[in-house]
Amino acid sequence: MNQPDIHIHPDKQRVAEAFALFLAYWLKPRERATIALSGGSTPKLLFRHLADLYRDRIDWSKVHFFWGDERCVPPDHEESNYGMTRELLLQYIAIPEGNVHRIRGEADPGEEAQRYGEVIQEFVPKANGRPAFDLMILGMGDDGHTASIFPDQLELLKAEGPCAVASHPESGQQRITLTGPVINNAGLISFLVTGADKAPRIEEIFQKKGNWENYPAAHIQPERGELHWFLDEEAGGRREEES
Ligand code: 6PG
Repeated sequence: MNQPDIHIHPDKQRVAEAFALFLAYWLKPRERATIALSGGSTPKLLFRHLADLYRDRIDWSKVHFFWGDERCVPPDHEESNYGMTRELLLQYIAIPEGNVHRIRGEADPGEEAQRYGEVIQEFVPKANGRPAFDLMILGMGDDGHTASIFPDQLELLKAEGPCAVASHPESGQQRITLTGPVINNAGLISFLVTGADKAPRIEEIFQKKGNWENYPAAHIQPERGELHWFLDEEAGGRREEES
């Protein structure tokens, strides 16, 4: 298992800019790329930056977008991860409609987890007999959750199918999430984590101390690929800014 590559930048805007550049270089040599996006607030700066500066600098026709998780709400709901991505990025880039594979948050959760698993089996090439996303972009909650795998549902890290129904431990909101084995089978996994509220978890996970084993994000270890953490100084601690 490779050691993670840790990239720390002064603030969240520069994390977004650094990751956008990383993404553009990573995509350049590829004919096709399957990318699973994360939701929440952190990716918003990335999506805005990609829409502003990379609209014409990336050949979006070779990208297939998926989601690592989705809230079980309609696409026009303010909490929809797909709706947020459409508003901040998708409406500005020339990505073929057939390349955007949203999770239908409005559907019955159990049925949608099954359906989305079939979509993934159809569009995502396999490695080790399991769908292998080329790139998995993840966030991390201040409770250490990632995608919608929460600390009280650690069994989803080992679930058989590619997708499962989860529920937010506080709100009870149902979610569809990719499961641990598919996440860890990606060619490249990159966390984007910013903000002081994430710092305690980051420290526990990186130093394997405290309750680190209770945090789903700590169990994201690609079996075959690379693991990157893009952090701002608030989340990752002060270090020399990388060149
Ligand atoms: C979601 C995300 C989730 C998110 C973390 C961090 O649907 O909420 O996929 O895993 O990445 O909760 O969220 P913030 O970026 O808002 O802190």
